[in-house]
Amino acid sequence: MRAARLHRFGGPDVLQIDEVAWPRPKGDEVLIHVTASSINGTDLNLRRGGLGPVAAGLLPFTVGFDVAGVVVDCGPRVTAFRPGDRVMSLLGHRGGGAADYVTVRQGRVGSAPHSIDLEMAASVPLSGLTALQALRHAGRLQPGRPCRVLVYGAAGGIGAFAVQLARILGAHVTATARPSKLTFLRDLGAHAVMDSADVTWDGAHEPWDIILDTPPTLSFQQVQPALSAHGVLISTRGVPGRARDAAALLNRRRPHFATVRTAERGIDLGLLTRLIDAGELHPPLDRIFALEDISRAHQYAEGDDVRGKVVVSAAR
Ligand SMILES: NC(=O)c1ccc[n+]([C@@H]2O[C@H](COP(=O)([O-])OP(=O)(O)OC[C@H]3O[C@@H](n4cnc5c(N)ncnc54)[C@H](OP(=O)(O)O)[C@@H]3O)[C@@H](O)[C@H]2O)c1
Repeated sequence: MRAARLHRFGGPDVLQIDEVAWPRPKGDEVLIHVTASSINGTDLNLRRGGLGPVAAGLLPFTVGFDVAGVVVDCGPRVTAFRPGDRVMSLLGHRGGGAADYVTVRQGRVGSAPHSIDLEMAASVPLSGLTALQALRHAGRLQPGRPCRVLVYGAAGGIGAFAVQLARILGAHVTATARPSKLTFLRDLGAHAVMDSADVTWDGAHEPWDIILDTPPTLSFQQVQPALSAHGVLISTRGVPGRARDAAALLNRRRPHFATVRTAERGIDLGLLTRLIDAGELHPPLDRIFALEDISRAHQYAEGDDVRGKVVVSAAR
């Protein structure tokens, strides 16, 4: 079977298509015939060597941290799925999605929405779960509780899901991106849009209760004046980047800073599926590339024109 692998870190052309052995499902793993996977910021960081020396120990590495496809075989302890099921999954830190087949534990798998095709479903797991968990768990955003949310870097994968989910959860949403993408943000449902470069943190704007920093580039010290009294800065950085951020994170009585570590939660994948099938949440699909074109897909994904998600299809 084919797998898009890294043997070293670098530009998009370090990606190559290799012939590798089929994985076999063990224990509670399912074998998924992959229709498509998506490119996330994490793939780009990893490919460039940005995840540090530990990642070097994982080479050769098959990229792709999420997939949609069809279950074709099950390990002996699988109870939740059977061959023929249409599914999507957030894979673990070992990736493996940009390939023809992948094995994954059943707890990381959810039913794919029936109202969209599997190529579009592949854009959902990592970005959708990160946005949902940032807003609901780290930000404690709930329907019925008035909340002003700023999604900083809203035209990317996480941002495009976050704008829609914050609005669904009843928030007033301000979204930022470069000027050429502001129409895209309005189409996602943002109440107000701004050029990211024009946001000031000196308290000139009405305060935000949640600032979601997707790139992530902001520090707690920088944005503190723009937060409401109970406001929180949520960063997609796995660990705080600065001492002041760490102190704000550790303040258990009044946490004003939170990081996201995206977790597979079947219940969260199920909620995303229900919102999509209800026509409330629209996966922000920008472009689909064939698996064989993985280098071109990465090149496009790290360019300036992407709006939402880039998908890599093994079915084309
Ligand atoms: N902690 C976790 O568990 C976890 C999970 C998933 C992802 N992540 C991390 O989250 C980050 C975002 O992921 P993603 O998939 O959403 O990436 P993405 O699709 O590439 O989107 C990133 C967005 O950030 C904006 N941006 C980049 N640099 C910027 C800057 N200097 N100033 C303002 N905006 C900037 C870009 O906006 P424009 O298009 O307007 O330029 C882009 O739309 C990645 O670093 C990834 O590693 C963390």
